[in-house]
Amino acid sequence: MNYFGHSFRLSIFGESHGPSVGIILDGIPAGLPLDPLDFKKELERRWPKIKGISKRREPDLPEIQSGLFEGKTTGSPLTILFFNKKTDSSAYEDLRYLPRPGHADFGAWVKFGGYNDWRGGGHFSGRLTVCLVAAGVIAKKIIAPTKVEAWIEEIGGSKQIESVVNKAINSQDSLGGIIACRAFPLSPGLGEPFFDSLESLLAHLIFSIPGIKGLEFGSGFKLSRMLGSEANDLIINKQGKTLTNHNGGIIGGLSNGNELFLRLAVKPTPSIRRPQKFIDLRTGKTKSIRIKGKHDISFALRLPVVIEAAVAIVLADLMLRSQRISLIWKKQKQSASEG
Ligand SMILES: Cc1cc2nc3c(=O)[nH]c(=O)nc-3n(C[C@H](O)[C@H](O)[C@H](O)COP(=O)(O)O)c2cc1C
Repeated sequence: MNYFGHSFRLSIFGESHGPSVGIILDGIPAGLPLDPLDFKKELERRWPKIKGISKRREPDLPEIQSGLFEGKTTGSPLTILFFNKKTDSSAYEDLRYLPRPGHADFGAWVKFGGYNDWRGGGHFSGRLTVCLVAAGVIAKKIIAPTKVEAWIEEIGGSKQIESVVNKAINSQDSLGGIIACRAFPLSPGLGEPFFDSLESLLAHLIFSIPGIKGLEFGSGFKLSRMLGSEANDLIINKQGKTLTNHNGGIIGGLSNGNELFLRLAVKPTPSIRRPQKFIDLRTGKTKSIRIKGKHDISFALRLPVVIEAAVAIVLADLMLRSQRISLIWKKQKQSASEG
């Protein structure tokens, strides 16, 4: 099963080298202005113009199939397709029975009895994150005036991104990174009791993104070394503003009215140029292989917009669930027609 969300529900489908990947979004309020051009800027951010990004540059043109009429959402499911244009599966032929270390190939082969589409990682590919970014465009409109911003804190343990990326290219290796994200302003009380706490839902969606291996809220792991007197965020006004924000804007699984802050660890790209030992599933023997194909040196470089989308999707879902969206676009329309 492949869906996420309660009141803003998404399902994504497709494979890296199949005809298309896409998304079905349910629960979008009717009347939300939406132009295919709204997606352009955000989708381009998934292909930053920096060294270290895969040369498989897909055009990523959203083909809206349903749920949009005369520039407004209709309230029925919105379906968006992204056709895969730059697929060359030849590099994967050799890997069919040679699961890449660090990639999903082995698990997928066992789970699906070899019926999974292994070309380019199939459904496990980072390609699917284009769908999240598209959903994020809509989610960001729903949660306005709350804004979500993500940025790269470091790549390969360094802030000198260009230099470490060049080194990794020269040594035919790959790099991970740390991404930080914040959302503001965020009113208090967002989140559902226990299982659907704000933290739980964010973790659920963020860990669905391939290659994310760590997540912390606020001061996260550092909190374990603090004293209570240091860790407690003192409330300094009736709106719940706190003096510090070690809890990252979430207490008891609910937003507390302060900035939501989280940080996540991205692993290095599994497919590297440098030869590595692979096991052949037919013979059980190992052999040294150099992976071909187009790969990111560090896919963390492409993730800020994906993380923003994931956070916006969770916030949109929770706001819609508790009927707390501010319907900014409806107000704008109203004042335009009145004025
Ligand atoms: C945007 C994005 C791009 C990615 N690009 C590549 C890539 O070019 N090559 C690769 O081997 N893995 C890439 N990955 C990572 C794999 O998809 C991921 O490591 C793999 O599915 C295994 O999942 P796991 O790392 O969560 O365990 C990418 C991930 C994302 C989110």
